[in-house]
Amino acid sequence: MTESSDPRITPLPFHRGRRLRRSPALRALVRETRLSAEQLILPLFVVSGEGIRRPVASMPGVEQLSVDEVAAEGPRLAELGIGGVILFGVPESKDPEGSGAWDESGVVQEAVRALKSVAPGLLVVTDVCLCEYTDHGHCGVLEGGRVLNDPTLERLARSAVSHARAGADLVAPSDMMDGRVAAIRAALDAEGFPELPIMSYAAKYASAFYGPFRDAAESAPEHGDRRGYQMDPANAREALREVRADLKEGADIVMVKPALAYLDIIRAVRESTDVPVAAYHVSGEYSAIMAAAERGWLDEERAMTEALLSIRRAGADLILTYWARRFAEINI
Ligand code: PBG
Repeated sequence: MTESSDPRITPLPFHRGRRLRRSPALRALVRETRLSAEQLILPLFVVSGEGIRRPVASMPGVEQLSVDEVAAEGPRLAELGIGGVILFGVPESKDPEGSGAWDESGVVQEAVRALKSVAPGLLVVTDVCLCEYTDHGHCGVLEGGRVLNDPTLERLARSAVSHARAGADLVAPSDMMDGRVAAIRAALDAEGFPELPIMSYAAKYASAFYGPFRDAAESAPEHGDRRGYQMDPANAREALREVRADLKEGADIVMVKPALAYLDIIRAVRESTDVPVAAYHVSGEYSAIMAAAERGWLDEERAMTEALLSIRRAGADLILTYWARRFAEINI
């Protein structure tokens, strides 16, 4: 029996969804969600030294780069049309206060300058946090095993100002201290950067999926965990409170992190505000798929595209992802 075109048969009253899936052209025409390289931001890990490209074992395809190597990447990344890069510093020496974070000649500050001179059009974002710079690995100043909120604010603000001076296009506080967006905004305004935008990691959860990043950034806490300041994965309404607070303090873009395990939060944040929403597809989410792809259990390219699309579909305008370069290379 053929799939009848017999005119005597009354067409069945069912929905033929397949009509619009018949060809690549039709599918493209009715596609609801678009994904393009300019919506993706590539995280880079900057180390001191020269000529260094050190693969991160737990993140296939990701390397720690010295400033000159970051600069060498700049023109190609600009040409690929990715949305930008976000820089994380891995300093040579750390101290209890994390003073390397606001060092005018720190690796991030140097990398910003270097990128801006070789690829002025490439958007450079900086992560503002102390965990990569403190010897104890926590995101703020410690006292008796607890991270002190208010004394940390001033240090975060100083770090953001040093990034601004180096030429950063956007600063992104990821520490989860209360009041840090207001503190950073005030400091930037006072130092002559009233037009430098802030992308806050507004809803950042205490997630197991940051594991590989802590290898890459050498920022695992020496003792304890980050549950005293990052959010409880069980909470959704709380994310909206965090977003509201950050917006009130002057955030220009709000971020949800991680992404795949928090698609409901991305959607809820999208519906609660009209500012741009970012999502961070984090290290563990990336490495889990890459590890499966290495074993031949998943097709990397298709899994990558599907994962990133799901984050856009949930409502994110932009995505921070270790795949930014790969995606751009494939889709150029
Ligand atoms: C720093 C920071 C972390 C990540 C981004 N900024 C780690 C953490 O909070 O422990 C994680 C990113 C990733 O896993 O890819 N506070």
